Amino acid sequence: MKTTKGRVNAFIHGITLKFSVSSESHPMFALLVRTHMRKQPMGTRPRKPWNKDRIGDFRRNLPSKPCTNKAGGTNHFLSGYDARYLDDMDAKRVWAEINLDALGHNLACIRQAAGDSVRIMLVVKADAYGHGSVGIAHHAVRSGIGALGVGTSAEALELRHAGIRVPILVLGTVVDEELRDCLGYDIHLGLHTGDRARTLAKLAKRMGCIAKVHLNVDTGMGRLGVPPTRALALLEEVYSTPHLQLAGVMTHLAATDGAQDPFAQLQSAVFDRFLTAARSVTQDLGWIHLANSAGIFTGLGNSYDTVRPGLAAYGVLPDSIGVEAPLLPVMGLRSQIVFLKDLAAGTPVGYASAWRASSSTRIATIPVGYADGLPWRSADGGEVLIRGQRAPIVGRISMDYTTIDVGHVRDLQVGDQVTLIGRDGDESITLSELANKAGTIPYEISCSIGRRVSQLFVGGEQIHVPGQAAPMPTLPPHPPLVPASTGTLRSP
Ligand SMILES: Cc1ncc(COP(=O)(O)O)c(C=O)c1O
Repeated sequence: MKTTKGRVNAFIHGITLKFSVSSESHPMFALLVRTHMRKQPMGTRPRKPWNKDRIGDFRRNLPSKPCTNKAGGTNHFLSGYDARYLDDMDAKRVWAEINLDALGHNLACIRQAAGDSVRIMLVVKADAYGHGSVGIAHHAVRSGIGALGVGTSAEALELRHAGIRVPILVLGTVVDEELRDCLGYDIHLGLHTGDRARTLAKLAKRMGCIAKVHLNVDTGMGRLGVPPTRALALLEEVYSTPHLQLAGVMTHLAATDGAQDPFAQLQSAVFDRFLTAARSVTQDLGWIHLANSAGIFTGLGNSYDTVRPGLAAYGVLPDSIGVEAPLLPVMGLRSQIVFLKDLAAGTPVGYASAWRASSSTRIATIPVGYADGLPWRSADGGEVLIRGQRAPIVGRISMDYTTIDVGHVRDLQVGDQVTLIGRDGDESITLSELANKAGTIPYEISCSIGRRVSQLFVGGEQIHVPGQAAPMPTLPPHPPLVPASTGTLRSP
């Protein structure tokens, strides 16, 4: 029998006695624990195969917490540090403002570029490129996207746990130990080898379900995927194996500037040749997908029935594609001044005294560092916005703090807002500008805006539903939230 261990507190005459017990020494304890577990109402216990340790940080899925913003409106926190402990002060240290209306607008632009009949599989891996995958996924689903793409099974399960029901594909691959959870939660998986096909088929048979796979054909990326010469045999195997369903056929572009790169055109031609051969095995290949953001905005978007945009949905296109699209930035990054200091000429600032004031000036310290995602390299030439003006980052960026030369900005006070990404008055700093200054790509910056940064979701009332919008059903009002005895919020 499995051993059950635990601690028991006894209160005797006002004194707390603590015991460590195990079912080996106290069989009654196992009985008590089991009885207690049975008494918990349905829904409060994690459903199998959910495993908190395996699927990561579920604190991000706590009920949203209303919070008053500086403009006097009410916003909701969905993530960052444990929402139960996040008060307004934490939120204002540094926060990422996630504009859901901009997301909706970008999805509409993507739909326009790809065509109304094309399914959008929004890529929300790496916490939706640092934008908060749960909040992003919920709004994207309301805006009519057909599926989500993630990087790991933990990311997929996090979305399922947060109530997302659309198909979710793990774009890369997973390790064997994760397969059971993936099948249990109906997660689509990329397929690259015959061994994996057989393992999945056996497991699905045992679990009494169907494993939905997308055959990943390596047309030139050279990372994952089955080479075209072996892909047909694998497709035939999938097609003839019970408990496996060919849910799609995919490939991934290596070129970062889409169809303008001859290599992307070569990959697309190899993929087309494979699809023609595959159709001699079955007409039902499931979803066919190749285009990422660069592909969609350079004419590859309507080549097949599904597209996989990531970056463009967040309002950015790779500079290299040289295409203008009316996308709106989804993320802003803001902080506030926590310290102001007047310096005499020649005074050094920061680690290694790497910067010295050439004349007397004022330094503002902001509580944002490279641990929050501000790249260390952006110190060289990087700027922030304060009171609608640009101000240079000076000295080295440290883990928790950054110093700004504000000698030219009048009447500053501790508590004044600082914009690292976003608009302030007539000035704005984009993710791409910050990335260029740091010598990196926008993907890396947004993905590294870390867990210490609160996410503040704004907007989201407007929904851009594709095609003819159906009238919204009238829903019964949600029961009011009341405090539970634990101090968290629950519905009565
Ligand atoms: C397989 C796959 N498809 C699509 C995307 C989305 O790419 P992008 O963000 O450039 O649109 C990614 C992102 O890395 C990916 O790995």
